[in-house]
Amino acid sequence: MHILITGAAGFIGQLLAKELLNDPAYRVTLTDIHPPLIPKGVRHPENATAVKTDLFAGAKDVVATSLDAVYAFHGIMSSGSEANFDLGMSVNVDATRNLLETLRHTCPGVRVIYSSSQAVYGQPLPDVVNDSVVPTPESSYGAEKIVCETLVNEYTRRKFITGFTLRFPTISVRPGAPTAAASSFLSGMIREPLDGKECVIPIEDRAFKSWLCSPKTLVHNLLLTLRLPADSVPPHIRQINVPGICVTVQGMMDALAKVGGPDKLALLIEREDASLVSILKSWPTQFDNTQAISLGFKRDESFEQTVRDYKQELEQS
Ligand SMILES: NC(=O)c1ccc[n+]([C@@H]2O[C@H](COP(=O)([O-])OP(=O)(O)OC[C@H]3O[C@@H](n4cnc5c(N)ncnc54)[C@H](O)[C@@H]3O)[C@@H](O)[C@H]2O)c1
Repeated sequence: MHILITGAAGFIGQLLAKELLNDPAYRVTLTDIHPPLIPKGVRHPENATAVKTDLFAGAKDVVATSLDAVYAFHGIMSSGSEANFDLGMSVNVDATRNLLETLRHTCPGVRVIYSSSQAVYGQPLPDVVNDSVVPTPESSYGAEKIVCETLVNEYTRRKFITGFTLRFPTISVRPGAPTAAASSFLSGMIREPLDGKECVIPIEDRAFKSWLCSPKTLVHNLLLTLRLPADSVPPHIRQINVPGICVTVQGMMDALAKVGGPDKLALLIEREDASLVSILKSWPTQFDNTQAISLGFKRDESFEQTVRDYKQELEQS
């Protein structure tokens, strides 16, 4: 299969590329506005092509008639889109529309796996969100994702593409540096202390709940979507809420102490940031994932296991 990954220099793009390039069945085109790296240590680096382009104008540089599937991961994250409305709209909406148009004309019917987010939801929300809850985003990022979800539905209904929209939970524990996402601390509060560094938690409420998914489980769910029968969701409703688990700040602290040692808690600084709290509190904290589970999507066993897996990977790298 020939697969295109956009936003391939980013976290999820690199994670998926690593998986695909360990399997000789895949040829992968990696594209990003920053030069995308071919992940180190993969078994089949010869199956990768890296193309640096701004997707706003450059979709034609990376879309080929041979494509079987596209993972659309490019984007400006939540704090970034809130801070710069025009940049968020141009990357999250305009570049995605341009990509879909190019795909429609170059490789009609191609499978498109679009990365959306739980941030499409805003208040008021029930305690448990099911697939019938109407998204009412309270951030530019969430609003931009909803625009693209509608495009993916419409392009699929018209048979221009075979789209699937995956609404990801927050992915934690994410390696690397902090990001321009309001949720950045949800990885940082594990990652930084395990690395001997401090992390600021921008909400002074240990009962604050988040909806999380580990990188390992995300990869399983991304690969599953590559093989899902096209008619497993209706032609005009392509959104799937990817399963997560509900974890409180206190629960995350407990997992850190258990896996990393209680001394690591001293590296966590609780300091409220009002601009982030309003975004964080608009998001849902628990979902009914019955539909996704019935399609074969997985959820994590526990957050403690996620932290153990992260620590083990650190020790192996
Ligand atoms: N990581 C999460 O917790 C999470 C949760 C929900 C949804 N998502 C979605 O998943 C996708 C991938 O997330 P991520 O964590 O890997 O993000 P990331 O920020 O690590 O990667 C996004 C990539 O998009 C690239 N990009 C930005 N503007 C571009 C342009 N004009 N042309 C081409 N590339 C451009 C960036 O350079 C970056 O490498 C995003 O769309 C994000 O909204 C992520």
